[in-house]
Amino acid sequence: MISKLVVGDGVATDPKIWRSLTKGRRPFLLSEPLVFKLYGRKVAEGAPLHLFATGEEAKSWASVQKAVGAMLSKGAGRDSVVVALGGGALTDAAGFAAAIYLRGIPWITVPTTLLGQLDSGIGGKTAVNLPEGKNLVGAFHQPEAVVCDPTLLRGLPERERLSGLAEALKIALTFDPPMWKRLRAEWMDLDLSWVIKKAAGWKLKIVGEDERELTGRRELLNFGHTLGHALESAAGYGALRHGEAVIWGLRAALNLSGNFPGRDEADRFLSKLAVPLPPGLSAKDLVERTKRDKKARGGKVRFVLLKGVGKPVVRPVAEKDILRAAEALLEN
Ligand SMILES: NC(=O)c1ccc[n+]([C@@H]2O[C@H](COP(=O)([O-])OP(=O)(O)OC[C@H]3O[C@@H](n4cnc5c(N)ncnc54)[C@H](O)[C@@H]3O)[C@@H](O)[C@H]2O)c1
Ligand SMILES: [Zn+2]
Repeated sequence: MISKLVVGDGVATDPKIWRSLTKGRRPFLLSEPLVFKLYGRKVAEGAPLHLFATGEEAKSWASVQKAVGAMLSKGAGRDSVVVALGGGALTDAAGFAAAIYLRGIPWITVPTTLLGQLDSGIGGKTAVNLPEGKNLVGAFHQPEAVVCDPTLLRGLPERERLSGLAEALKIALTFDPPMWKRLRAEWMDLDLSWVIKKAAGWKLKIVGEDERELTGRRELLNFGHTLGHALESAAGYGALRHGEAVIWGLRAALNLSGNFPGRDEADRFLSKLAVPLPPGLSAKDLVERTKRDKKARGGKVRFVLLKGVGKPVVRPVAEKDILRAAEALLEN
């Protein structure tokens, strides 16, 4: 099932929109203290509520167990619809609770970070972390609707904004040359509703073609993420925002893609956005980490590369080439 996408200033607090989305069912709000204080009362007025912990702490077995316990004691039923209001961590955890409560009840996401609105709040991947690693337990559970309201992003720090925009740059480079052109031209004064509609629209389309990551289509969303993830974990989680690592990962993937018209120009644009890397990173260590990536198959690491802007291909890449790209990344 493809989620309905609702984008616009004020949509998250518009009672008319909520009436049309909940269709007479009872909303149950799952959020976290920081975001709830800012927007909670306006989003699902009067709905029963459970608050997860803020940030990554929400994504644990224990916290999901607490949430489903609260849903039970507050009377959530099959006629309820979970409304998940928060950043990517909150929607991952709340979505997992919705996926397993009474074997799954419907849910609607209201992402409150830019990353959430154009990426992590969309696509139905829900998860919690284990001590052994991130996102190791979860379920595919498509939200009925994704409600993206740019006015909820006003208080976000600049760093979060750039981190989210990295995913929009990824989408544009992978699928959409005109979007790529406009993003660069209007970079200093972007219309966020437009960016969200475009990027979220692409993600929904690709996810709709391959909901459970079986055909390879969804893999294309990983452009820039193989070395990006390696860098994010090598830096120590929290040192780099996800999107900050992805910008470096995009540059490395462009490097591995070989030359095509517009490639160097793309790299120059990204180089201006790339934040300095923490000291002490090693290229060899980055290569080892790409091998542990979920996408590694039969020992070879598969990369999404570009034949041109909007022309993605998936290719196994030899270790020596990954090393070369990792070295180039660290020299920059
Ligand atoms: N399911 C997916 O497909 C997918 C994709 C990418 C990332 N993720 C997950 O998303 C998580 C990261 O999400 P994130 O970057 O949105 O960060 P986050 O959810 O950790 O939120 C970051 C911080 O911003 C605060 N915050 C949220 N909205 C705010 C607002 N409107 N104003 C002020 N502060 C606000 C939060 O309280 C939190 O402290 C990770 O757990 C990652 O695994 C999931
Ligand atoms: Zn990402």
